[in-house]
Amino acid sequence: MKKVIYTLLALLALASVAFAVESQLWGEMRLQNILGYGQEETLQLGALFTLLQSKYFAWVFLAVLLGVPAVFFLHYKIVGPKIFPHSQKKHYAFNLFHRTIHQIAGISFLVIIPTGFVIIFGDFFGGGTFVRWAKNLHAFFTVPLAVVILPMALMWLKEALFTLEDIKWFMILGGYLSKEKRIINATQFNAGQKMWYWVAILGTLTMILTGAMMFFLDFKIEMLHTLSGLSQIDLLRLAAILHNVMGFVVVALFITHVYMSMFAIKGAVHSIITGYVEEEEVKYLHNAWYKKLKEKGKF
Ligand code: HEM
Repeated sequence: MKKVIYTLLALLALASVAFAVESQLWGEMRLQNILGYGQEETLQLGALFTLLQSKYFAWVFLAVLLGVPAVFFLHYKIVGPKIFPHSQKKHYAFNLFHRTIHQIAGISFLVIIPTGFVIIFGDFFGGGTFVRWAKNLHAFFTVPLAVVILPMALMWLKEALFTLEDIKWFMILGGYLSKEKRIINATQFNAGQKMWYWVAILGTLTMILTGAMMFFLDFKIEMLHTLSGLSQIDLLRLAAILHNVMGFVVVALFITHVYMSMFAIKGAVHSIITGYVEEEEVKYLHNAWYKKLKEKGKF
């Protein structure tokens, strides 16, 4: 399975590079191919994008980059982590397929997000080769992410469907504001995890699509123009705005996801490496799931 995934990734990466080389990425021809460029009848989003880009986007990204970890730093200091013993019974919750898909997504994010920040603060880094490399890596690691995002969506879809019970979880924020361990009646994914699932899947798909539109600037997909009624330059400008706005949300929740799995619940991160979840952790944080597993004799 691993071999197939790696071969697929290599092929996709090569195809994308070949396409990029063929298509004169930044050449004069490209500009001519962008329908609607310089025409009056476009939505004139150019000025809006330039304003957002020059005045707001970088500041919001900076606020996310510093603000979200600052909140979690305070949470860690004031409330502290939830610590569960790792010496008791375990349940094999994530098989090799789950873990490989998840790890590819994780590694891709760990390259895409920092390089995204280098692109945003390109001026600060002095432009040039460093920023160009960041841009290339940003695009390159989107390929493995694009390969794994749909399998990830499918493999966890059932666990991620919201139910009325989830409202209760949100009302107490899953007990994460309390120092004591409390039994929480959640299934395999609690409401917070479900929320991350939907942001991760829909957000990543949006980022990939809008990113691809900006990468393949002169793409010609008639259906897109017919369906949206927009010219190519409008679609590109919308893509650029959406890529940034969705980026705020995805980055903020990704930092949250990593904080939860590495710090707030001590040692939870092992589950994506070994596939095993701890009995105590499941009993306290996912009690409805725990009861089911107990009935089936899995603990
Ligand atoms: C360094 C990066 C990452 C780490 C350390 C990490 C860690 C984890 C852990 C420990 C779990 C299992 C939680 C449990 O025990 O139930 C988990 C679940 C999950 N991860 Fe990740 N993950 C990472 C990256 C990603 C990325 C990039 C995505 C999506 C694009 C993602 C999507 C999910 C989803 C949807 C779940 C199931 C719901 C949840 O538990 O939140 N993860 N992750």
